[in-house]
Amino acid sequence: MGKSAKNKDSGHGGGAKGNLKERARKRRQLEQLKERAKSEYCEARSSEIHGTGVYAIKDIPVGKKIIEYLGERIDKEESERRANAQMELAEKTGDAAVYIFTLNKKWDIDGNMPWNTARLLNHSCAPNCEAWIEEKQIFLYSLRDIADGEELTFDYGFDIENYEDHPCLCGSAECVGYIVGRDFWKELAERLAKKKS
Ligand SMILES: C[S@@+](CC[C@H](N)C(=O)[O-])C[C@H]1O[C@@H](n2cnc3c(N)ncnc32)[C@H](O)[C@@H]1O
Ligand SMILES: [Zn+2]
Repeated sequence: MGKSAKNKDSGHGGGAKGNLKERARKRRQLEQLKERAKSEYCEARSSEIHGTGVYAIKDIPVGKKIIEYLGERIDKEESERRANAQMELAEKTGDAAVYIFTLNKKWDIDGNMPWNTARLLNHSCAPNCEAWIEEKQIFLYSLRDIADGEELTFDYGFDIENYEDHPCLCGSAECVGYIVGRDFWKELAERLAKKKS
């Protein structure tokens, strides 16, 4: 017992004391993240678009930084692995939420953490928010004045590949029927027209 116990408590950053310190540091880090994930402007509630959504709890003026999208930074390889796992789950259950957000060419953010309220924003073809990447952080800003009680949405910007896997239920007058980024709407319209003819 003596030797290994002594080594564990040796105070060189390793061993039991080191582990305790590391755990305390991680706990503090998590608490800080949870604080950062909070917003005075919105809360999660059941959504008419899909599952749970995020709703304004006060009037929000245009251009306001509403909430930060937080999560685990992962490289593209890990991101691909997680996205495939989610697609497999989708095939089994018929539904799977994707919480992976592109940060830059090298990194993505997996926001699938229960305290990351921003992960619950649904997509809309007529969104009232947009996501902005600042340095290595992602924030959601209001695109227009938003009234207390409105659901917050943004354009997921999904590309056209596999569009049929993502039907859109946003319910807006502009809805194109699928969760596809505005940049791909023209191509989507062409593909849908071809399918009809
Ligand atoms: C990041 S989650 C958003 C939160 C989700 N409502 C929930 O309860 O977990 C993304 C998933 O929500 C669903 N979703 C988001 N916007 C949608 C929309 N406009 N129409 C249909 N489903 C939508 C899709 O299943 C999508 O993969
Ligand atoms: Zn739509």
